[in-house]
Amino acid sequence: MTESPAPPHAGDDEALRERALAALLAARDRTTLLTDSVDDHDLTAQHSPLMSPLVWDLAHIGNQEELWLLRGVAGREAMRPEIDGLYDAFEHPRATRPSLPLLAPGEARAYASEVRGRALDVLESAPLGEGPALVRSGFAFGMIAQHEQQHDETMLITHQLRSGPAALTAPEPPRAPDAPALPAEVLVPGGPFTMGTSAEPWALDNERPAHQRDVPGFVIDTAPVTCGAYRAFIEDGGYGERRWWAPEGWAMVREHALDAPLFWHRDVGQWLRRRFGVTEPVPDDEPVLHVSWYEADAYARWAGRRLPTEAEWEKAARHDPVSGRSRRYPWGDEDPTPERANLGQRHLRPAPAGAYPAGRAPCGAGQLIGDVWEWTASDFLPYPGFAPFPYREYSEVFFGPEHKVLRGGSFAVDTVACRGTFRNWDLPVRRQIFSGFRTARDL
Ligand code: AVJ
Ligand code: FE
Repeated sequence: MTESPAPPHAGDDEALRERALAALLAARDRTTLLTDSVDDHDLTAQHSPLMSPLVWDLAHIGNQEELWLLRGVAGREAMRPEIDGLYDAFEHPRATRPSLPLLAPGEARAYASEVRGRALDVLESAPLGEGPALVRSGFAFGMIAQHEQQHDETMLITHQLRSGPAALTAPEPPRAPDAPALPAEVLVPGGPFTMGTSAEPWALDNERPAHQRDVPGFVIDTAPVTCGAYRAFIEDGGYGERRWWAPEGWAMVREHALDAPLFWHRDVGQWLRRRFGVTEPVPDDEPVLHVSWYEADAYARWAGRRLPTEAEWEKAARHDPVSGRSRRYPWGDEDPTPERANLGQRHLRPAPAGAYPAGRAPCGAGQLIGDVWEWTASDFLPYPGFAPFPYREYSEVFFGPEHKVLRGGSFAVDTVACRGTFRNWDLPVRRQIFSGFRTARDL
């Protein structure tokens, strides 16, 4: 039992160089859209104590690129050593970043674009085939493109938290015409499968290495839990009944008087939500967003079910029972397309449950990739054989019971930072992120 062979571009220098260039350019287009769509006041303001000012993300993107591609890969001197500390995420918590002497919007743009110009020169001549581990297969370039796209998702969260009229618009995602005919849940038979990857060239350290896991049979929801289903939990008094909640979850509900997902409010008998500056009725058929792990866990208990473990989620998403291999994605080994998954901020909301028939896994579950990040039952822990690479602060310092794993990626995640093995994590109280969930049960 193995994973699919490395993707077609993996051994080919020129294909990797093209891919790295395309990924870096796509990330910068997204960053530019997110930072040019608001004025300088909105760029430097703190829209929430949970978030950095947008202008911090912008210069931090440039600083990480300088650190890894110019200093790391090419051995260059620091361009502006005095700013490194300002953009070190570990030196300054998000809430304190607005009071730092940050680069002003114009300076931050100029710095990021100066770094980018030099990084593209480095890419042109980097020995992607036979170089050291950092450059081999274009890893550092892929890592930096993923890093920028991860901050683009973070900046989209800041846009969502910002008050005032809409700054961004996007077309509606596809509908789900065959949703009523879909089964509510599907079976994943027991047995071993290959979890994680040793073949994907740009997989990050926490996704490695590929290893066998025995997963007993289980049943999992065909689609993420919808707003309509979640509303039934609310209307049944779910937020008022201690028995559904983990003790820390109950404490959170009481302390903050929670009664619904973040951005929802009740208005004479109907639920409304605010989404990127627009208030609209909560759509019953759309996957629920902006719930904490504690809310997902409580809903599942109320429904007589549970959250899937991370291994169950990955087996549902990747295991091909015919070949016995783990796929790169639920639909196979080919890269995501707009027909297969809602990714890349092409739409500013999840598609209705049951959409993307072309993206379904062999078990029949859909929308595993894209739409909403899915909370799992699991703590964020290293796989057997984990080695930090290229820096401990990406994953290793976050391992432990305080962070829960999210899988699958949201509509806000780019294709370069999303695959069947990709692992995200956060504190179980967080709900400003584009988080939803699906439920599972034992056989
Ligand atoms: C993997 C999304 C949890 O945003 O905190 C960005 C990604 N790491 N810069 C985060 C990350 C360093 C990380 N997450
Ligand atoms: Fe970062």
